[in-house]
Amino acid sequence: MIYQQPSPFPAGFLWGASTSAYQVEGAWNEDGKSASVIDMYQHSADTADFTVASDHYHRCIEDVRLFAELGLKAYRFSIAWTRIIPGGTGEVNPAGVAFYRRLIDELNRHGIEPIATLYHFDLPWCLQQQGGWENRATIDAFVDYARTLFSLFGDSVRHWLTINEQNTLILHPGAVGLPPGGVPPTAKSLWQQNHHMMLAQAQVMALCHRMLPAAKIGPAINTTSMYPEHCKPEDAIAAHNWETLRGWSFLDLAVHGRYNMLHWRYLTDRGLAPDMAEGDAAILLQGKPDYVAINYYSTATIAASRGDASDVSARAGDQQIMLGEPGVYRAAENPFVGKTRYGWVVDPVGLRLTLRKTYERYHLPILITENGIGAPDELQADGTIADDYRIDFLRQHIQQVQLALADGVPVMGYCPWSAIDVVSTHQGYGKRYGFVYVNRGEHDLKDLRRIRKQSFGWYQRVIASNGQTL
Ligand code: BG6
Repeated sequence: MIYQQPSPFPAGFLWGASTSAYQVEGAWNEDGKSASVIDMYQHSADTADFTVASDHYHRCIEDVRLFAELGLKAYRFSIAWTRIIPGGTGEVNPAGVAFYRRLIDELNRHGIEPIATLYHFDLPWCLQQQGGWENRATIDAFVDYARTLFSLFGDSVRHWLTINEQNTLILHPGAVGLPPGGVPPTAKSLWQQNHHMMLAQAQVMALCHRMLPAAKIGPAINTTSMYPEHCKPEDAIAAHNWETLRGWSFLDLAVHGRYNMLHWRYLTDRGLAPDMAEGDAAILLQGKPDYVAINYYSTATIAASRGDASDVSARAGDQQIMLGEPGVYRAAENPFVGKTRYGWVVDPVGLRLTLRKTYERYHLPILITENGIGAPDELQADGTIADDYRIDFLRQHIQQVQLALADGVPVMGYCPWSAIDVVSTHQGYGKRYGFVYVNRGEHDLKDLRRIRKQSFGWYQRVIASNGQTL
């Protein structure tokens, strides 16, 4: 659809940027913080670990001042459960509370809306040792943790996100590292964990509404659109299979409180259906999100399954992210889209399509909580970082957000990944996303100085003009 009248970004549009606790904070064992699964899992020794990360824990005031200079209207970050309740349940750690209080107050002082994710991949290790999400006790632990956060910070945080990318955790468990021993959980265990997370999430959303009637809360799922490789009907079915099993099934449960039909058939057919306790169906129905958050990086192109092992391939050569499933779908190439140097598909138009589809399905406002391009940005001898590729990538995606707004999709805001360089899950600091460069190497911490990239000045102008200057 080509519109004759341009549709400006609405007043109050949340121009933001994102990070997550374990990727930005560092100070992994300081001030009472306990270890999370991220701290204990196996990761590549060639890339940076998460112990110091971008040292945001010690530099958060300086960082927020940079975010204010950038003009951010919103900052989406996550809270480390292990800082707030190091034992997973029970005692609250005052030093952890003080850190987030400082961060949130500084954001509010600069008029930057804090958007807090309760849990971004970093389950307390002590809970993991007791079975993690497979253990129903973790549901109660999560609800208690959320209750603690709502009572501690509910006065100054109005936007909450429950669980970051639950679909990544379930579909690609190795993406956040492998447990000691290197064996990921079985599919049966993962779908049981998924069920428990959904129960926890539903209760937390209901709790948020009871405790903080003025606040808004929603799930954050990695959401994308799938294209059939050809106009072959079997390819279309395979693309629909995967779009449903990879994305909609998670959002359907979060928004409608019931299992998606196709998803449930898939689970029962393969003996993967979770055990449901009496009362679970009613608990799932308690969850009523106020908005849907989406992390959008790329689309995928799908062909009909050949029904054998050749259906499975590694995404962009990354053995932790396997695509394809016999009898369901296989990944295919799309000659009409670009790729990053890490092999991630670049498809700005796919963002518009995904926004349309998500809104048509859920009729809820949408917040884009991640979108961005990872690249090995280089600090030049003159002290600059010329990340013009990032500007091109973000500009093209913002243009598509504007078109989605013209289509009628109520997009609340755009929070690209990431506000500042963070540890990329698989490529450390060799793959950066931020508007602010952090001067460190994989293992050489250098001075961790903050340096504005070229994209910083560009995004500053975008925000200042409310999206008119792209
Ligand atoms: C998202 C995650 O899936 O992708 C982030 O929520 C992550 O935590 C981002 O960093 C980019 O992925 P990667 O592997 O390049 O760091």
